[in-house]
Amino acid sequence: MNKNTRIAIFGSGNGTNAQRITEFFADKPDVEVNTIVTNKKDAYIVQRAKNLGVDCIYFSRHDFFETDNVLNYLKQRNIDYVILAGFLWLVPQNLLSAFPKRIINIHPALLPKYGGKGMYGERVHEAVIANHETKSGITIHFVDEHYDRGTTIFQATCDVTPDDTPDTLAQKIHKLEHEHFPVVIEKVVSGRM
Ligand code: GAR
Repeated sequence: MNKNTRIAIFGSGNGTNAQRITEFFADKPDVEVNTIVTNKKDAYIVQRAKNLGVDCIYFSRHDFFETDNVLNYLKQRNIDYVILAGFLWLVPQNLLSAFPKRIINIHPALLPKYGGKGMYGERVHEAVIANHETKSGITIHFVDEHYDRGTTIFQATCDVTPDDTPDTLAQKIHKLEHEHFPVVIEKVVSGRM
């Protein structure tokens, strides 16, 4: 199938969002998950990519920050949008310039709270619980040169109950992410959001 819009998913970890997004678009006519890019050779996202039959490539810190290797790879594959799904490095300027308003991140909290360097995954949920928040949620946003600061595209919330642990809260957040992230991506790339 020749699809119009080609997506690259960047991830550093387990890759449940990458899998969900790939499966969501598998039978859609317009959008293709063309490649998965990781900065962690041994992350489970690599195995998921293999299982899904999506090309997966590893780039080192040097490649990311000191060269145009990642940019050239994306250009060579005619990538239109970059989706950060659990990707833990700041996006370098060469990619930001090449993909204006075309790099989208998901964050497991209601930004601007609980964002910034070092705020990822479990650490976010620990902080939310430690502060006795009664609500948390997800933020999907465009990426700029700062951690977790670009324009918000979408938020969804969930309750944080007194018996929640970082693990149970992570499960609630993943449920929201899996439900909304592919749909929001579809709306953004088709100009409906
Ligand atoms: C997701 O919850 C995502 O929001 C979070 O990492 C998890 C990745 O899960 N991202 C951040 O914390 C970025 N600051 P996954 O690998 O199973 O998709």
